[in-house]
Amino acid sequence: MCGIIGYVGKNNALNVIIDGLERLEYRGYDSAGIAYLNSDGLLDIKKEKGKIKNLKETLDFDIKSSLGIGHTRWATHGEPNFVNSHPHKVGKITIVHNGIIENYMELKQELLKSGYSFKSNTDTEVACALLDKIYNETNSIEHTISIFRKKARGAYALGIIVDDDYNHLYAVKKDSPLIIALGDKENYIASDVPAILKYTNKYITIEDDEFAKISSDKVLVYDNNADLKKFEVKTFAGNSNDVMKNGYDHYMLKEIYEQPEVIKKTTLPIIEKDLDSLVNNMPDFSKYKKIDIVACGSAYHAGLVGKNLIEEYANVPVNVDIASEYRYKKLFIDKDTLVIVVSQSGETADTLAALNIAKTHGCDVMGIINVVESSIARKSDIVMYTKAGAEIAVATTKAYSCQIALLSLIALNIAYKNKEIDKSKALEVLKSIRCLPTNMQSVLNEFDEYKKIANKIYNNDKIFYIGRDIDYALSMEGSLKLKEISYINSQCYAAGELKHGTISLIDEGTPVIALVTNEKMAEKTISNIKEVKARGAYVILVTTDNINTDGDYYDEKIVVPCTNKFVQPILTVIPLQMLSYEIARLRGCDIDKPKNLAKSVTVE
Ligand code: G6P
Repeated sequence: MCGIIGYVGKNNALNVIIDGLERLEYRGYDSAGIAYLNSDGLLDIKKEKGKIKNLKETLDFDIKSSLGIGHTRWATHGEPNFVNSHPHKVGKITIVHNGIIENYMELKQELLKSGYSFKSNTDTEVACALLDKIYNETNSIEHTISIFRKKARGAYALGIIVDDDYNHLYAVKKDSPLIIALGDKENYIASDVPAILKYTNKYITIEDDEFAKISSDKVLVYDNNADLKKFEVKTFAGNSNDVMKNGYDHYMLKEIYEQPEVIKKTTLPIIEKDLDSLVNNMPDFSKYKKIDIVACGSAYHAGLVGKNLIEEYANVPVNVDIASEYRYKKLFIDKDTLVIVVSQSGETADTLAALNIAKTHGCDVMGIINVVESSIARKSDIVMYTKAGAEIAVATTKAYSCQIALLSLIALNIAYKNKEIDKSKALEVLKSIRCLPTNMQSVLNEFDEYKKIANKIYNNDKIFYIGRDIDYALSMEGSLKLKEISYINSQCYAAGELKHGTISLIDEGTPVIALVTNEKMAEKTISNIKEVKARGAYVILVTTDNINTDGDYYDEKIVVPCTNKFVQPILTVIPLQMLSYEIARLRGCDIDKPKNLAKSVTVE
């Protein structure tokens, strides 16, 4: 979603900010803008609809600018156009803003009465006017920010420049990410680490009730009473290589290929000493009678896989909900319920809201999160990190597999501790986890085969996915991946449900990707496949090497190694990811930045 970068220092702010904005492109945006100090010591603002290259064309990179703020906007209030783009300037205040000021209509009315007028439809311009009004009254930006926080409701991260002082940037946040990064005689603000990783890996996080004043050689952090606070300088473990394509055509493909490595990083530390570690390196789940898993998008799909495993093996009831529904529905949860929120970014607004609601019911909340120090990670009582590294492609791949890996380990931990499975079975699962990276590599090596299949089906305008049991949960992710990046209308059905109406959508040649990896359900699913085959479907069977697939009910077959049910989805999803990738590539889609989508959805 929207991205922020700000710079003050010895180098050219224009170069740093535009470079940072390009690194934030993956978050999704539809306009971009920059405010910077020009060679006359005045603030210039440039903004353009569409891609950052449009903005670049308006800039003279030969000037020396020591300070600026930039923004990529993903439209929420008001269409993507010049006036609605950021930065906004009102009076002496210029800002870039991520998030939403919920009471902006109310604030706007008050400001209109005070004589302010507005050019845009945005809540950001209202926030800017409010800051300007308070600043004119107090003449102190520190007090202005404190008062602003009391008046503005909602989630926001703001980068602020004040006309009276072009030596400083100000950063303030609430429920929306913003870091301050530290260089040598230069400092930065950014909504996301990749924006600044080329320059430094030292950073400070500010809390919701804090704000920062930043010059080229000093950062001051204040609490909400405008009193100075001590802060800790942190070091980001990755480097800028983590956010490069490293020779791949797209981040998505690079991230698909990184899966064996990140699965190893995520799982091995937990099971290093077999079952002892499995018990000791994980939280104690024994006190919970039920589990709610709450997430959005692919993370929700990972939750569905987790439910299947936890219920089947650990014998604990699990409810899985989409966060945007969970936050408004009647909940049957109490201190005996563990609420697991799953999120790659750790910033998804609906998931964060669900977490807060769960806490008001007295539940423990556990986050399965990829981004360290993200808002959800910080607010969770317990955190288990997926160690997928920076994920840049909007469509998740490696973070999703790591989410499944952790949910599997949770299922195994509870099952083993509750004696629902015996020691030898548990050891067998651990062995299959250790073999996963090698098995994953063998599946990745078949990309050329998947390409041939993609080539046969990429021109279709609809593609179905079917499966039963855990394969149904996995099919949902396969279908989402395809529609996210290729814009093909794809639907996923529980294989047994298709005949209850939707089979009428199967025409001659309609591709149906059918998953059959669960031996127990194989016969039933194969019967369902025969139903679609009889209606003319072009069936692509995705199966494991232990299943008898004799018969003439499919047109293409992808076989992945059979492993334990706990980890099978992590292998089976790979051909689904690669098929989606190749289909989108053949259709000429913008794979890493699909239209209208954002990597991290920080609005409701
Ligand atoms: C957005 C992305 C999806 C992602 C979902 C949840 O909608 O486009 O790909 O699965 O958010 O994101 P999270 O960061 O919470 O896992």
